[in-house]
Amino acid sequence: GRVGTGHTRAKAILVGEHAVVYGEPAIALPLASLPMRATARREDGPLTLESVLYSGTLADAPEVLAAPRAAIEATLDHLGLPHHGITLSTESTIPAARGLGSSAATAGALAHALADLVGRTLTPQEHFDLVQVGERVAHGNPSGLDARTTASTEPVWFQAGEIRSLDLALRAHLVVADTGVHGRTRVAVADVRSFRDRHPARGAELVAALGQITRDTVDDLALDRPQDLGARMTRAHGMLAELGVSSPELDRLVGAALAAGALGAKLTGGGQGGCMLALAADATSAGTIAAALRRAGAARTWLHRTDARRPA
Ligand code: PMV
Repeated sequence: GRVGTGHTRAKAILVGEHAVVYGEPAIALPLASLPMRATARREDGPLTLESVLYSGTLADAPEVLAAPRAAIEATLDHLGLPHHGITLSTESTIPAARGLGSSAATAGALAHALADLVGRTLTPQEHFDLVQVGERVAHGNPSGLDARTTASTEPVWFQAGEIRSLDLALRAHLVVADTGVHGRTRVAVADVRSFRDRHPARGAELVAALGQITRDTVDDLALDRPQDLGARMTRAHGMLAELGVSSPELDRLVGAALAAGALGAKLTGGGQGGCMLALAADATSAGTIAAALRRAGAARTWLHRTDARRPA
């Protein structure tokens, strides 16, 4: 019979994580090299999921799939589909729980696959609302940045749930490196809240400064100012560390990237594990930095061109 398909991709937050929870803007990039492909097909029996993380009935899926599961159930209800007689599958190499948006990418691709199965196309708002059902399960009060960016094919400015596209002239390379340690977005978001409770003035100052870094980054991207962007990224890392969301592994990789010639480096996403980003002036430098990061303990690295607008 008919097979429904859906496509999303991983994302990296360039600047603005955590501050975005308090209404500041953030800039995020879809990562074309880490796509997610989902299918949905009718098959007798219980609602089933086949993925690299787990294959079996959705009802028995492990905790790491709690967010996509909630989004899938919301999508079935939204489309008026039964909670049985469908087999879902995903294909992706996005690492789970590393701050690259794997849960939002999974939920979004499956929501589209289910809609496609019944000949429907989700609007961006429907997509957002359904993915957010899952993201709220993952960490309480999600800004919506993952839900929006994993559905986008272009870098986005994000604020208060809405996105807009960016003028992008920057010709640089980003190295994404995985610490190999699970990110802890829920705990990190709670820790920032507790920092703000204990140090209201400094907390507000850091959140505002991170927001200003995001605003200034817009011009760095539009005017091709890699040096300025790099300096801003490294400053943002220091502020995020002060808020309590870095980790020894992240700090080590940031240091190794800078020592290997990165223009700047910072953690990305929720932090306390997960991934970091390093900005490189050119492809040769990006290769040198990636090798240095792996020597410093990175489990994996990916290269991303900042002027890559569309997935290849
Ligand atoms: O860990 P990730 O990639 O899901 O990113 C979380 C980003 C935060 O700003 C820390 C939280 C949020 O809801 O935006």
